Amino acid sequence: MENQTQSENKPHTLLFVDDEKNILNSLRRLFYREHYKIIVTTKPEEALGLIESHPVSLVISDHRMPEMEGTKLLSLIREAKPDIVRIMLTGYADMGAAVEAINTAQVYRFISKPWNDEDLKLTVREALRQYDLIALNRELTELVKEQNQELYDINRSLEKKVQERTAALDAKNKDLDALNQKLESSFLDTVKALMGLMEMKNRSLAGHARRVAAQSSELAKLLGLSKKEQQLCEMSALLMDIGMIGYPDSLLKLRVREMDQAKRLLWQKHPLLAEESLKGIDSLKAASRIVRSHHERFDGTGFPDGLVAKNIPLPARILAASGYFDHLLSPKSGEMGLSVGEALILLEKEQGKRFDPKVVHALIDVVKNIQAPSTALEVEVSLQELREGMVLAKDLKTGGGILLLPAGNHLQDAHLRRIMNFNRIDPIIDRIYVYRKG
Ligand SMILES: [Fe+2]
Repeated sequence: MENQTQSENKPHTLLFVDDEKNILNSLRRLFYREHYKIIVTTKPEEALGLIESHPVSLVISDHRMPEMEGTKLLSLIREAKPDIVRIMLTGYADMGAAVEAINTAQVYRFISKPWNDEDLKLTVREALRQYDLIALNRELTELVKEQNQELYDINRSLEKKVQERTAALDAKNKDLDALNQKLESSFLDTVKALMGLMEMKNRSLAGHARRVAAQSSELAKLLGLSKKEQQLCEMSALLMDIGMIGYPDSLLKLRVREMDQAKRLLWQKHPLLAEESLKGIDSLKAASRIVRSHHERFDGTGFPDGLVAKNIPLPARILAASGYFDHLLSPKSGEMGLSVGEALILLEKEQGKRFDPKVVHALIDVVKNIQAPSTALEVEVSLQELREGMVLAKDLKTGGGILLLPAGNHLQDAHLRRIMNFNRIDPIIDRIYVYRKG
């Protein structure tokens, strides 16, 4: 089985071409026991047909033939089937024929007549081994090529799958974002609706909540709280005094120190009332707990639970300090609010007592360094709260759009009378902003 191809395990087909029949017979005899399939012809033309109709691996051709020279025949075979191993038999040492055979027919070997049987058998065996190697190499190359193509296809389809997957994930994320936005906006809608109620009841209560909310969110950020906690601070501040919605205006316009015992007890219930009304709303549960504690004091003298220091949730400690500071700045009961400097002195005095010292420090930083003076000093007041000496932060117009006083105007008694007169005929509906004393 040594002389069979490794890949197909079939006997090799050998083609012998010689115009002399006895040479062909000798060759046939020589390879008779070698397990080759032998075909022979005396006609070179026929040989060209035989290589097309048989799986010929090797050709041994005579050189001198009357119809066609061996060089010519082997060249044509090389053109038609380049893999067939070509061996030339020469009757004599013809250098010219040898050179031509090498150049044009690229023969594997020359064998001179008369040949040595063993040499010729060995030459054929080696030639066929090389033929098999070339065939195997080609097969493997083809296989690698096919596998490369397969790999390429797999990569392409993987890439496509990844792209599809990414697109699907993107779409899911977008859906999720939309859902979150919807949730967020329904949550904000709830807060806005509640703020609207507060606004209807008492505009300065709502204004106070808005300013404290903005400041508390800043404070939370400065104190290193997460985005979610910053938002919790803001929401809780907006809603902290919602429990006062049912209180009479006569109570709301008083400062705490001006309230009698009964009024003060009622007023002190507002954190609990707020908690009660908010805790039923899923998205406001966390805020309801903060709202309950926004009047707790750091030293434990606050209400409703008398919590001490870190037992008070940090957002509630933030709301407490920020709320107090804003009250100090706001006009109430016919009095102007304090200046920022005066309010800061009072705030500092309360650190460690009413308020968490670290919150007080942060608040001082926010007021002194972070807030822009123009927004820090602007405060919303009601028409009734306008007083002589206040400076308008924004133009003051009637509901019909008549400019009563421009921004920057120092209010005098005559101005106030004019404003009130106009308000009776063409009520002022815009919010009124004045500067705090710096
Ligand atoms: Fe409050």
